[in-house]
Amino acid sequence: MDKESALEQALKRSHGFIALMAYYKCAIMEIETKFNVLNEEFSLQFDRNPINSIKSRLKDLVSMKDKLERKGLPFTLKAIEDNLNDVAGLRVVCSFTEDVYMLANALLEQDDITLISKKDYIANPKPNGYRSLHLIVTVPIFLAHEKRIMKVEIQLRTIAMDFWASLEHQLRYKKEVAFTEDMMQELYQCAEISADLDRRMDALRKRVYFAESNALRDGGQGL
Ligand code: GTP
Ligand code: MG
Repeated sequence: MDKESALEQALKRSHGFIALMAYYKCAIMEIETKFNVLNEEFSLQFDRNPINSIKSRLKDLVSMKDKLERKGLPFTLKAIEDNLNDVAGLRVVCSFTEDVYMLANALLEQDDITLISKKDYIANPKPNGYRSLHLIVTVPIFLAHEKRIMKVEIQLRTIAMDFWASLEHQLRYKKEVAFTEDMMQELYQCAEISADLDRRMDALRKRVYFAESNALRDGGQGL
């Protein structure tokens, strides 16, 4: 782990930086609440939870500095706010693939949310097999005397996609070992298996839903 320089330490202690990080934290809270509300509404309607878990994080100072450096930008508060889309990050782990799109669409319909960019790695997986739906959005936060528009990165994925991505991430960070073509193939195969699991579970969900509707209809006719 890189030692923080005196400059980084000074920035971290500055009021401006502390305030900016607090605003990003508020933006995370806003988005998390929106997803919790959608989960609640859906579970009332359909008696199951589309969201399995929500994780959130603020990008750490060293990662922000590295990313700005890679972009050839100075390490300032303005550069952070203007150029980094993933200071505030949320990961929404869903039960089924259909839930991913339902939740993303429901969020994007809300009139205080603006979509900046969308990457659908479920429809178009990365060459290594990575799948998830990525959204960069803005959300307003309301302070005592000010409204601020904050950027948030949201990754939506199923439990199977999250399983693969979490383990791939762990393996990729074993930097002393170079990944061979064979290892890459194996990782890709695992991603295919996880995609297949999602498809099968989704088909099963539809069968159960269909059987349940029929049972309710038939039961209803008897009344
Ligand atoms: P950065 O990686 O943040 O610079 O963003 P990018 O512009 O390349 O965007 P992208 O949407 O491709 O990736 C953003 C985030 O998605 C990453 O920081 C990871 O959290 C996640 N991600 C993207 N690709 C992979 C992958 O192959 N494996 C895993 N485990 N996570 C990935
Ligand atoms: Mg990132």
